[in-house]
Amino acid sequence: MADVHIEGLTKIFAGKQPTTVIEDLNMEIRDGEFIVLLGPSGCGKTTMLRCLAGLENPTRGRISLGGQTVYDATRRVNLSPDKRSIGMVFQSYALWPHMTVRKNVAYPLRARGMKDKIKAGWVEETARLVDCESLLDRYPGQLSGGQQQRIALARGLVARPDLILLDEPLSNLDARLRDSVRTQLHELHSRIGFTAVFVTHDQSEALALGDRLAIMRDGIIEQFDTPQQVFDQPATEYVADFVGMTNVLLCEQRDGAWFFNGTVAAGEPPVLEMPGGGQLARVRIRPEDLRVAPTGESPGPKMTQLMARVEDAEYGGRSINVVASVGDNRLHARVPAGGWDSWVRKLGQGQEVCLGFRMDDARCYDEAGQREESPAGSQQATEA
Ligand SMILES: Nc1ncnc2c1ncn2[C@@H]1O[C@H](COP(=O)(O)OP(=O)(O)O)[C@@H](O)[C@H]1O
Ligand SMILES: [Mg+2]
Repeated sequence: MADVHIEGLTKIFAGKQPTTVIEDLNMEIRDGEFIVLLGPSGCGKTTMLRCLAGLENPTRGRISLGGQTVYDATRRVNLSPDKRSIGMVFQSYALWPHMTVRKNVAYPLRARGMKDKIKAGWVEETARLVDCESLLDRYPGQLSGGQQQRIALARGLVARPDLILLDEPLSNLDARLRDSVRTQLHELHSRIGFTAVFVTHDQSEALALGDRLAIMRDGIIEQFDTPQQVFDQPATEYVADFVGMTNVLLCEQRDGAWFFNGTVAAGEPPVLEMPGGGQLARVRIRPEDLRVAPTGESPGPKMTQLMARVEDAEYGGRSINVVASVGDNRLHARVPAGGWDSWVRKLGQGQEVCLGFRMDDARCYDEAGQREESPAGSQQATEA
């Protein structure tokens, strides 16, 4: 285990049109911390891991691992991957098909000349950690996807690296298996402790696994904080969208009234400081925080209310997914389905309804998608 310092890390891919994939990135990872990098495809997550591992040459910056500088552009330090104590787990399990599981797991030990550790039983011990001891003499082709990914995890851990990097390791598994391997990984981290950077584009994986999350956008980090804080107080509108606040309402105060997407609000008037003192705010809210009621009825206490038109209502088991338009904008509401004969189960296209939400559940951003309390959207990734 070790702490990791990343300072001013920049990666520009040369070419006819040079592309900056990582831009002046700063991050401090504590010893034993499980960090999740969350961002959409193409935002630079894999490039970042490859720079940490030494598989990619950064353009600028400094990386140190447990106090040792492994990369420093100005001092021309650049340790090769085998000189960095790092384990990697990939999306494609990348096991050697012609080797038994035992040989696959032992591979990093051989590659680093740690043959004595193979004798000392590290392979068996690590296989036991991921509950795969009984599979050691099989070949990868004889294993299920979930078993293969657990073996890949064992291979990443076996050399007791200072840092383990995981690049979307669960995304090739089917939904049920993904949940169970995720839980095993979480348990394993609590039990044996290791420093990890885990990359994903899946918010539920990020929330479940991360001690802290770094939300990435085009090579920069928009927010670096605990899952609770990111979920509850998204620093920018981009982050809000990424953690499920998918509904957007354009809010305007005019002639003493409040308008959302041009529709006048009734019920509890919103208590809202316009970000930056402007006239317009971008309000973000989760589908779970919208409620639907018959027109003329209150959707709930202390709710801001808007007239809306149902575009679609979809059965979702415990909930009904309602798409309703307010002005030109469509909103998604996920409302409790209620009993067999509940009103909400009978919603039909074109029906007028009252849509309600509590301003406490909404988050407001200025027209540039920033919050006024946190200028520049907490760019300082080094702050806890
Ligand atoms: N070797 C390369 N040469 C040029 N551009 C690259 C190279 N590798 C990745 N990129 C570009 O860098 C960006 C980030 O890629 P990547 O780190 O793989 O993103 P992610 O893992 O978040 O999906 C993409 O736009 C990709 O096209
Ligand atoms: Mg990637």
